Amino acid sequence: MCGIVGYIGEKNSVPVLIEGLKRLEYRGYDSAGIGIINTTECKVIKTKGKVAELEKLVQSENIKSNLGIGHTRWATHGEPSMKNAHPHMNEDKTMFLIHNGIIENYVSLKKGLLEEGYKFVSETDTEVLAHLIDHYLKIKNNLFQAVRYALNEVEGTYGIAVIYKNEPDKIVVAKKGSPLVIGIGKNENFIASDVNALIAHTSQVVYMEDGEIAEIFKDHFQAKTIADENIIKEIHEVDLSIDELSKGGYPHYMLKEIMEQPDSLFNSMRGRLVLKEGISKLGGLQGFEERIANSDRIIISACGTSWHAALVGEYMLEQYTGIPVEVEYASEFRYRHPIITPNDTVIFISQSGETADTLAALKEAKKKGALCLGICNVVGSSIARESEAGVYIHAGPEIGVASTKAFTSQLLVLSLITLLIARRKSLNQPEGQEIIEELQKLTHKVELILKQNELIEKIAAQYVECRNFLYLGRGYHFPVALEGALKLKEISYIHAEGYPAAEMKHGPIALIDDDMPVVFIATKDSVYEKVVNNIEEVKARKGRILAIVNEDDNEIEKLVDHVIKVPKTINMLQPILSVIPLQLLAYHIAVKKGLNVDQPRNLAKSVTVE
Ligand code: AGP
Ligand code: GLU
Repeated sequence: MCGIVGYIGEKNSVPVLIEGLKRLEYRGYDSAGIGIINTTECKVIKTKGKVAELEKLVQSENIKSNLGIGHTRWATHGEPSMKNAHPHMNEDKTMFLIHNGIIENYVSLKKGLLEEGYKFVSETDTEVLAHLIDHYLKIKNNLFQAVRYALNEVEGTYGIAVIYKNEPDKIVVAKKGSPLVIGIGKNENFIASDVNALIAHTSQVVYMEDGEIAEIFKDHFQAKTIADENIIKEIHEVDLSIDELSKGGYPHYMLKEIMEQPDSLFNSMRGRLVLKEGISKLGGLQGFEERIANSDRIIISACGTSWHAALVGEYMLEQYTGIPVEVEYASEFRYRHPIITPNDTVIFISQSGETADTLAALKEAKKKGALCLGICNVVGSSIARESEAGVYIHAGPEIGVASTKAFTSQLLVLSLITLLIARRKSLNQPEGQEIIEELQKLTHKVELILKQNELIEKIAAQYVECRNFLYLGRGYHFPVALEGALKLKEISYIHAEGYPAAEMKHGPIALIDDDMPVVFIATKDSVYEKVVNNIEEVKARKGRILAIVNEDDNEIEKLVDHVIKVPKTINMLQPILSVIPLQLLAYHIAVKKGLNVDQPRNLAKSVTVE
């Protein structure tokens, strides 16, 4: 999920690797490392910290080599630490591997390798691949073939680069699901997980496709399919300047992260759905399924955006599992003498996994004997470690302070947990399959929404001067209204409130005049007609209305000032789609106000104080 660089040529690779890793820092990472091979030594230098620290370590070693690979890791398996950082290697430390992605079948592969006598020093899925390549190196005595054979056994995603002391004239790379490009130089070649790391050296690049593997020499390269057939690759000219490169070409992390949602959602569900049986498979909850399904009650506790995800989770779990669910602000929960019993399951949701209030609530619930589960993005974070079991959302690093892709991935993981438990209750196989089919269509639907970015920007331009906003939704969309309002507040400093639409007439309706924009989330579900009535009520008071509606809705647009259309999905998943226009709306309003969207005033990405 993070960064890969590599160099083979006549120069010293070390500064090229360090500089390349610096160019990949915008992607976020938790540890970094390089591996080099020269005529006298094979050396790996790694650190849990930043590339700048790695650079200091490398300088103190004063190493030089014409062949090297470098990596920034964003942990998916095993906490961020020196031993889990890449490169990983074979036992005699002659072959180095860097990997982005996830080896999904690493448990079964590891079992076989352990039986063969391989010893593991890290907790990563990647190390399994290093030993598997070593296993085939011993049989084939050829690095390219060893990598190819090993990859044939791998399920999951990878962008990899491998170097080997006995074949120091090449880097072997392969790709499936994680990006990889080759940079073509003169008497030197480069590899990287994105062109940012190459652009200082060359503008000629070759994009590897899924299922391809290549040998990179200093003066040429040969690409093949994983079935060992030669392929001719086209060389592209990249038209990018170094200035455009930070943030992957986007002006802000927040926009980059909003736009990444097709990928982040895909990563959250990858390897976790079994269509044939209509079930989800969540490794982190294995062995706990019965206990969750038999809980008297599920409590979900979190803060901020994660608390909004919890509210959606409440609707999902109650609808499909019939287990009563309560949602608690972590900050209130911990001080409230909550009644928790060992028959309760308490789920803690946190992107960072470090939020002090959520962590304290977790400790409290643990003391009371409840089963405590974590839903976190950051692997190895405090909440992930303190929980008895849990699920990583695998959304990738989120750097913008306003949470966007983590929110949609939290919802997705909550739907997977719902499916897991509901199938043990009354949900039958065809119903489970229907949910899975909808999940599988989601990423494409998200792409369709993101294509409307320009339209949303134009709509945003008409609301920049507003000083207050109301966001209204019912059912599954009440939490989306809260989240839409929070996004706007956080980054544009405009006062915004989210309400259940029907509550409007119990108070907030007094605020409505022609100066008060109201955002309705009005997709077609069981409360659609009622929301239309609420829209009429606002219109009668001359409020300005922006509505999020389904694609086939031609009625609401006749009533309101602006509509943004989103594809339809099942009710449980609709919030994943309907929140995206609200993220973009908040983003564009804030940008048009000239504000710092990635680091809004007074806010921190990880709130580690009470
Ligand atoms: C989201 O946009 C906010 N920055 C904030 O509300 C955040 O969701 C909250 O602080 C919880 O963070 P966590 O998910 O890392 O625990
Ligand atoms: N799954 C690997 C790990 O946890 C690679 C993570 C990455 O893509 O950075 O080490």
